[in-house]
Amino acid sequence: MTNARITAIGMSVPENAVDNKYFENIIDTTDEWIVSRTGIRTRYHAGPDVFTSDLCVNACRDLTSRYQVALDDVDMIIVSTVTPDQPMPSMACRVQYKLDLKFAGAIDVYAACAGFSYGIVMAKGLIAAGTHRKVLVIGAETLSRITDFTDRTSCMLFGDGAGAVLIEASEENGIGACVTGANGEGGIDLYLSGFADQIDGQPITTSRKIVQNGRKVFKWAVTKMSEQMPVLAEKNGLSLDQIDWFVPHSANLRIIEAICNETGFPFEKTLESIVNFGNTSSASIPLALYSGVQSGKVKRGDRIMLLGFGGGLAYAGTVITW
Ligand code: COA
Repeated sequence: MTNARITAIGMSVPENAVDNKYFENIIDTTDEWIVSRTGIRTRYHAGPDVFTSDLCVNACRDLTSRYQVALDDVDMIIVSTVTPDQPMPSMACRVQYKLDLKFAGAIDVYAACAGFSYGIVMAKGLIAAGTHRKVLVIGAETLSRITDFTDRTSCMLFGDGAGAVLIEASEENGIGACVTGANGEGGIDLYLSGFADQIDGQPITTSRKIVQNGRKVFKWAVTKMSEQMPVLAEKNGLSLDQIDWFVPHSANLRIIEAICNETGFPFEKTLESIVNFGNTSSASIPLALYSGVQSGKVKRGDRIMLLGFGGGLAYAGTVITW
């Protein structure tokens, strides 16, 4: 079995930073409420000419500008997104075309905020199987396009952005065992409307927007992730105190704090992207990891637990060695 390792990381966000004051003008809210209930201070919204595929490509360009890696022999591109420019062609095909990656297969993963972690698990599997050696995994969203700006309980949460990692066949075992799972009965608690007019017989709106039951998703996230963290550590032959950094999906700072309270994992050893970027779904884990790497917090050899969760409801995680 061939091992795999992340060898490079890049990111991209659109130019337009949106602070909490913006929401004070469009809904009944305050900066204080948003900061205290979510942790979010800013997020970025794509302008009319910026699409998810642009953010994917920019994240890959950032990656190659920072690391001595070539992408021309990438043999698979996996993009996680729920906000593709359009459902077909896939975002992975857009990236293949725009970066002229002649030898790459291309596929999109559709698992919302768990999608980037699913992409890592799949890339590891392809490399372990010996069918592929160099895989780009990208998490990218333009959630501002599907945000309901009249919903005061959700519109301030979401942001746009992308993160990309390069995963290569390696002597080192840089991507460990994984957990993957779903609680599909919670589909009604977090969905993108505008397709079918019902879920499990329950009528839903036909306009295209994110609909969520915030409290239910919050509780599920805390309960399920607190349960899965020790399971994931054990699958990797580790205890939680041997994990250097925990990078959960950044949906709400209070969710991360609550998981830490439940599991006893130190909050100071978490990496987040919620404060500066909001909830960027597929992009949130690579954005958080990127900030940890660029700030110098994450050192070579650190063990990092990634754990994505969200719409589906679905989750996936693994432990990487940086
Ligand atoms: N500004 C000010 N007050 C607001 C508000 C806003 N934007 N949105 C809701 N409130 C009010 C509510 O009306 C309620 O008032 P009441 O007590 O007078 O009835 C109060 O704040 C508390 O509402 P509640 O729904 O309990 O808030 P919360 O603390 O659960 O926070 C979320 C709401 C959405 C931020 C939180 O539930 C959350 O983050 N959920 C998870 C969402 C998520 O993770 N989604 C994606 C998963 S990948």
